[in-house]
Order: sequence, then structure tokens, then C-alpha cells
Amino acid sequence: MSSLRHRFPGVLDGWSRFDGPAGTQVVDSAITAMTNWLSDGSNGCGGGYFDAAHRADELVERTRATVGRLFNADPAGIAFGPNMTSLTFALSRAIGRTLQPGDRIVGTRLDHDANVTPWRLAADGAGAEHVLAPFDPVTGTLPPQHVIDLIDERTKWVTLPGASNLLGTAPDLKPIIDAAHAAGARVFIDAVALAPHHPIDITALGCDALATSPYKWYAPHSGMVFVQPDLLEQLPVFKVRPSHDHGPSRFETGMPNFEGLAGVEAAARFLLEEGMANIQAAEQALFEPLLRGLQAIPGVTVWGVQGMEGRTPTAAFTVAGHSPAAVSQALAAERVAVWDGHNYAVEVVDQLGLAESGGVVRAGISRYLELDDVHRLLAVVEQLATR
Ligand SMILES: Cc1ncc(COP(=O)(O)O)c(C=O)c1O
Repeated sequence: MSSLRHRFPGVLDGWSRFDGPAGTQVVDSAITAMTNWLSDGSNGCGGGYFDAAHRADELVERTRATVGRLFNADPAGIAFGPNMTSLTFALSRAIGRTLQPGDRIVGTRLDHDANVTPWRLAADGAGAEHVLAPFDPVTGTLPPQHVIDLIDERTKWVTLPGASNLLGTAPDLKPIIDAAHAAGARVFIDAVALAPHHPIDITALGCDALATSPYKWYAPHSGMVFVQPDLLEQLPVFKVRPSHDHGPSRFETGMPNFEGLAGVEAAARFLLEEGMANIQAAEQALFEPLLRGLQAIPGVTVWGVQGMEGRTPTAAFTVAGHSPAAVSQALAAERVAVWDGHNYAVEVVDQLGLAESGGVVRAGISRYLELDDVHRLLAVVEQLATR
């Protein structure tokens, strides 16, 4: 399947951008949508009687509808905000007001901290308990039973990763969601690391809430959360008095980032047109040589890899005798962009015992990378490892 590099002006400078798990380059149609929005008189506020105000209202509704189609979710539950972390804090703060002393929130150690600390603070504030299920450190997977064992009659919320932003592994969510619901608990999914790579069907999953970061799926910087509309209606959200009392905008504080939403809508359409199953297949075709190539280099350890199934195309690796930061620097010197460290997956590096040694190097596949990028990365790592 051919690369879509030509759709991404941000990668035409010759850099190999494996930093997609931290934030992707923006697709051309999203850039155009934002530029048009800012230059054709649409910019302003919604809720008025003039043309531009109508366009603002229509944009918000259109973006909810397109993102709803992308994730097969009711648009009435889709809210936008600055990023996933802010939206999760807003949600956990509202949920915290519904918790009682003795209640329990169950999370996991496979998560990014944006799906750990907001819940810890909500639990602490209510005198509730927050517990974390460990993942399997060898395979990097999260056996559903590890979470299910912690769910009991006190459990009000279970918070799960759609995929690990560090190891790339994607847990089997359905059995955990079912067990949580059977115990009367609700489920929140951090789908930030899953959404760029994998089809997500919120209706089929049956989760109560799910968040993603559109800037990881070729859109501008922004966040999106879905909350089941009935639940969203009941939640004691923090809002100012004049803002909407009903619908998803009761969760959106202040004026939306309209120009950003124009980009989000266009990026969601890009994913729908390309098809998530096609994107997944094209990325796997690059990830396989990346993974096999890294595993073949003496001194390189790829963390949390069981196989190609049940994962996203993100590799976390270390090189014996070289700190992750030094590997990152060597790659940057050859115009290969990666991230190193914990990448906010604090619990993951801690459980792997890598916290003191600088974490890992993380390289992720995005739809604008090609085989020559993979070879360039492997050549630098190989040279460093055998030095
Ligand atoms: C898995 C995961 N969850 C949450 C976040 C936080 O997202 P945001 O930057 O939109 O707050 C990230 C960002 O890297 C992530 O990878």
C-alpha cells in the first residue's frame, strides 16, 4: 500500500518522523480547512443571528457528527476541549463529586499518567480508594483477569488504556468492560494511543466514556471525549451559569476552538475516507520490518512484544551501553525523530524497572512514513549498538 507522505506538508523536509505517538503531522485537508476558516470570515462565535455565527454552530455540529461516525458513537455524547488530559481532569473532577468514602476506582499500570493521576486525585478528594492492576512485564499485555480481580461491589469506575502509548500493546477491553458492568461499575477508556491505528466502535465496546487526542490522528492540537449522553446529562460538571445545561456543550467550558474543530473535522474525514482497516494494514507492513530489524540488532531489547496481534505499531527499545537519551540524540543527528524517557507512562517504566535508567526509546509508525525511513532508523541504531 503506497505511502500518504504527499498528503503531509510537515514531512517534506527530509526528517523521518517516528514521533507520531507524541503527536502526528497534520494532513493537508485539515490545514486547508483551518486556513479557510480563519480567512473566509467564518471566525467569530456561535449562537448569533448573522451568517458567521450560523457557520460556527454548524461547524460544531458537523464535527460532532463526523467524529461520531469515525468512532461509531452518538454525536450527542461527543465533547471537545484542549487535550485529553484537561478533559479527563474535568471528567474525573465531576465524577469525584459522585463518589463516597469507601468507593473504589480500578485503573491499570499500563496507562499514560493522564489516565492515572486524574482518577487518583478524584478518589483522594472523595475518600475513595484507587487501585492499579499490573500488566505482564514480559509480554507487555494486560491480562483482563488482572483488572477483573480488582473489581468488586465497591467499584464505581474502571479506567483502561485502549493501547499503551509506550509499549504499543492493546488490551482486550471487552471482557473487562463486561465484568465492570456486571458489578455495576462504569468504564472510561483512554483511546489516545489506539485511535490513530485501529478502528474503534464505541457502540460495540459499550464503554461509558472514551477519550482521544485528535492531534495524534493527523488533526491539530485538541482533545475529544465521548460520554454516554444520559450519563453526561447527570454528571455534576463544573460549568459557568450561562453555558448550556444540556447536551455535550455543558462539558465544554468557554468558547470552542473553532479553527481547531475545522481541522479535526477534516482529519476525521481523512481517516474515514482512507478507512481505518487500510491504515492499520499499511502501518503493520512497515512496523514488521521495524520490529524485526530492531530485534535482530545485538544489544537491542524491544520491550513488551509478544507478537504482531493485539498491538499498535509502536516500539519501545533500549540499546545496551547507551542511554535512551543518547540513542535519541544519535538518531536526531541523522534526522530521525523519536522520543525517549517515560513518555508520561510513569507506571509502565516503573513496573519494567527502567525508571532509573532513562526509560526507553520510542518509535512509532504513522501513515506518512516509508520503508526508507525504517531503514534509516535501523542503520543508526545498528551503528550505535555495534560501536
Ligand atoms: C495514551 C495517552 N493518553 C493520554 C495522553 C495525553 O494526551 P493529551 O496530550 O491530549 O492530554 C497521551 C499523550 O501522549 C497518550 O499517549
